Amino acid sequence: MTGSMGDGSNPTESRPRNPILVALDVPTGEDAVRLARELSPHVGGFKVGLELLTGPGPAIVGVIGRLGKPVFADAKLHDIPNTVRAAARHLGEAGARWVTAHAAGGRAMLEAAVEGLREGAGARAAGILAITVLTSLDQDALAATGVAATPGKLAAVRARLAREAGCEGVITSVRELGVISDVAPQLLRVTPGIRPVGVDSHDQARAATPAEGMERGAHYLVIGRAITGAPEPGRAALDILSGLDLPGTSPGS
Ligand code: C5P
Repeated sequence: MTGSMGDGSNPTESRPRNPILVALDVPTGEDAVRLARELSPHVGGFKVGLELLTGPGPAIVGVIGRLGKPVFADAKLHDIPNTVRAAARHLGEAGARWVTAHAAGGRAMLEAAVEGLREGAGARAAGILAITVLTSLDQDALAATGVAATPGKLAAVRARLAREAGCEGVITSVRELGVISDVAPQLLRVTPGIRPVGVDSHDQARAATPAEGMERGAHYLVIGRAITGAPEPGRAALDILSGLDLPGTSPGS
């Protein structure tokens, strides 16, 4: 299940026609479904995070998925392999196309996540996205946890580990897209921290524009408030998409 865009193609050779994954960071399932219905024709998929997974629960993945776009369960799994396998299996059964797990959990844990998700998803395409290094951790913060490597070096080591463990891709900041393309080009690269020009950066310290994200090699852009907080979310998504100037892109593709 590695290296596919849902259609079996290699992510280094082709990109999704619509790279926008909207982060549905809203408090209730009703809010999430309302937004997802409005946005579904204009985006490539949806991200369901811990707020929804621990509020309405994992069934929300299936509810959103039935709108016809892939759903990425940002569960940030990090535990012993047996527990992670079971959690990933549940998310696969719920309909997740992708599930996140921390690469810091080690190879056996990532392999367990890959296996559990595959078991849960059955015949459907599904893959683990490994979180390489949290963007909230700079070198000093890493050192304080006993990790001497720079964020870039650590991202490279963990991207290799993710590939070896059978993960489909990684979650990575814009600044580490280059190093990950070099060391593990087979991996799908999914990038948060995106802000169109002129949109408030909120709490994102080093935001990049959608075009920068794509130019630096992202396959998917995770975009939340720049779309969900806009007066017309559908219009905001379309504006971002048209600004990307992707070959063959059409709304809703
Ligand atoms: O609203 P905004 O576009 O900042 O949302 C970004 C989404 O990506 C949020 O759901 C956030 O949890 C997630 N994310 C992030 N930075 C990371 C990892 C995940 O912003 N390093």
